[in-house]
Amino acid sequence: PLTYFEKMRNSFPVSLNESTGSWDVFKYEDVKTIFTQHEHFSSQGIETMKDPIEASILRQDPPKHRQLRMLVSQAFTPRVIEGMAAKIEAIAHELCDQMETSERIDVLHDFASPLPITIIAEMLGIPPEDREHFKRWSDALVGNDPERYYQCQQEMSVYFSEIADRRRLEPQDDLISNLVRAKGDGSQLSDLEIIGFCILLLVAGNETTTNLITSAMLMFDSHPDVREQLIADSSLVPQALEEVLRFCSPVQTMIRTVTKTTVLRDQTLNPGQMVNLWIGSANHDEDIFEHPEIFNIHRIPNPNLAFGHGIHYCLGAQLARLESKIAMQTLLKRFPECQLDRSHPLERIDSWIMFGVKQMPIVLAHRL
Ligand code: HEM
Repeated sequence: PLTYFEKMRNSFPVSLNESTGSWDVFKYEDVKTIFTQHEHFSSQGIETMKDPIEASILRQDPPKHRQLRMLVSQAFTPRVIEGMAAKIEAIAHELCDQMETSERIDVLHDFASPLPITIIAEMLGIPPEDREHFKRWSDALVGNDPERYYQCQQEMSVYFSEIADRRRLEPQDDLISNLVRAKGDGSQLSDLEIIGFCILLLVAGNETTTNLITSAMLMFDSHPDVREQLIADSSLVPQALEEVLRFCSPVQTMIRTVTKTTVLRDQTLNPGQMVNLWIGSANHDEDIFEHPEIFNIHRIPNPNLAFGHGIHYCLGAQLARLESKIAMQTLLKRFPECQLDRSHPLERIDSWIMFGVKQMPIVLAHRL
């Protein structure tokens, strides 16, 4: 049977949802084109002072986007990211040590979730005694409770503006110090932008990376031949993860708003209408990927759109790739025989946007 995305790509590649009045776009070329045409498709959300995410880089168009991106990308240079490797490895091993001694293991709660959260906390320079708050905030930001979300956003705003003030007086070797520093041309981020950026990092960076790691676990578990290959040669892990990014794209869709009338495959998209760019469908487009339904770690090149494309291309892509590479190499090395506990059915998280599961119990070899 055809999947929903397959059916839409073949029959209704650009389709208007009558009930919401927004467009859905399913073909790879169209999704990529819209990502590129930021003059016709805006990233701006509803301007609100209350929601720092709406003031963040993700929701800006040029020229504001370009200014923000220049400022924040200095905190994400390849040198900074590569410099994180030893730290990430240490954290991954620490989490494995804890898993080894615990009674029941859930690779999501015990590994894939704390790993990116700890790394962001480390990058931001959150002191160890505040890490518990930090974990609670990041959980609330991706949870489904709007009250709690708002409450935590308030707490984080207070917390991060205090840290920003302290770093202005006494800079440290951390990301917030980088963000508060005035640049040579006098440009500087406002407090709201700094807070929005810190919160965005938690929202954009944590659950996505967690889901990439658990999806990789799932794919390697259901493809024992792939697992064998990766255990034998761990240098294949990065290309295997590219295929996981294609096959189980952690971010399934991104939104744009039409700003200039555009005709796409005979459909007229009018200003003010929203467009859902289905990354999850584009990455399975048969016009681009041969046998897209086959999980093939030797697909090179693998031009998937999992991190987006164009000016908003994921700022954390290199960090996410490094983290997930170290995560999977460490898990495969430490627990080569581990298996998913199939007595629990896997349950997908309740989201259209994110692709992932709610929990992932595993069994270690010596307990099988
Ligand atoms: C943007 C996916 C990890 C920070 C994006 C976009 C996608 C994406 C699709 C484009 C949004 C758009 O075009 O509107 C992912 C996936 C990840 C991941 C699949 C993990 C597997 C991370 C991490 C960080 C991060 C680890 C930071 C620590 C950002 C930021 C942007 C962004 C700041 C906005 C960039 C801009 O607007 O210029 N991400 N992301 N992401 N991502 Fe990621």
